[in-house]
Amino acid sequence: MLLVNNSGFGSYGEFPAPGVARNLEMIDLNVRAVVHLTGLLWPDLRARGGVVANVASLAGYQPTPLMTTYAATKAFVLNWSVALDAEARPHGVRCVAICPGPVSTNFSKAAGFASSTGLGGQSAEACAEEALDAMAAGAPERVTGLRHRLLSVLSARLPKPWAAAIGLRMIRRLRLDRLLKPAD
Ligand SMILES: NC(=O)c1ccc[n+]([C@@H]2O[C@H](COP(=O)([O-])OP(=O)(O)OC[C@H]3O[C@@H](n4cnc5c(N)ncnc54)[C@H](OP(=O)(O)O)[C@@H]3O)[C@@H](O)[C@H]2O)c1
Repeated sequence: MLLVNNSGFGSYGEFPAPGVARNLEMIDLNVRAVVHLTGLLWPDLRARGGVVANVASLAGYQPTPLMTTYAATKAFVLNWSVALDAEARPHGVRCVAICPGPVSTNFSKAAGFASSTGLGGQSAEACAEEALDAMAAGAPERVTGLRHRLLSVLSARLPKPWAAAIGLRMIRRLRLDRLLKPAD
């Protein structure tokens, strides 16, 4: 059996932008739905064996200002998946956290940008290939793209307040706010 928990969205801006309700909707989809769907299928996964592939993010490796809630939801998915893999492996169920960096999809529009942020580094196809490769290799986590893999190793080693401060400066330098859709 294969369960892919892929649905998710992000947002950009100082908390609580774009609104507390949207932050809570993000937690519902990015976190609660992953746990809920996995829980519903767990008896079948345990009975038949299988793989749960959860799409986390490179953003899950460090606290990320201006994407605070999104990055925290992905840190949850990353840690939950790796822990679940260790626990469930003896029962014939594997779990993998797929952690892409920027991928060219509808993600930036759903996050409130009027157009592409220009950060779309990897194609969805290349990302999916790497996800399949990780599943075949039985890896509990996979950052897709070599450059992003290196970045995840570096940022996970930094003290969290440093990572947040450096992240804030780097993200501000991108001036993404000028690409946001105007509020209705
Ligand atoms: N693209 C990136 O740069 C990037 C980087 C790292 C991680 N990710 C993660 O990759 C996953 C897929 O995103 P994507 O890049 O493919 O973005 P996308 O093109 O916007 O796709 C998002 C998916 O989530 C579903 N979705 C959105 N809001 C929903 C809601 N409220 N309830 C149920 N389903 C909802 C969408 O369904 P509909 O099509 O029906 O709306 C769509 O299938 C997400 O978990 C995202 O966080 C993306």
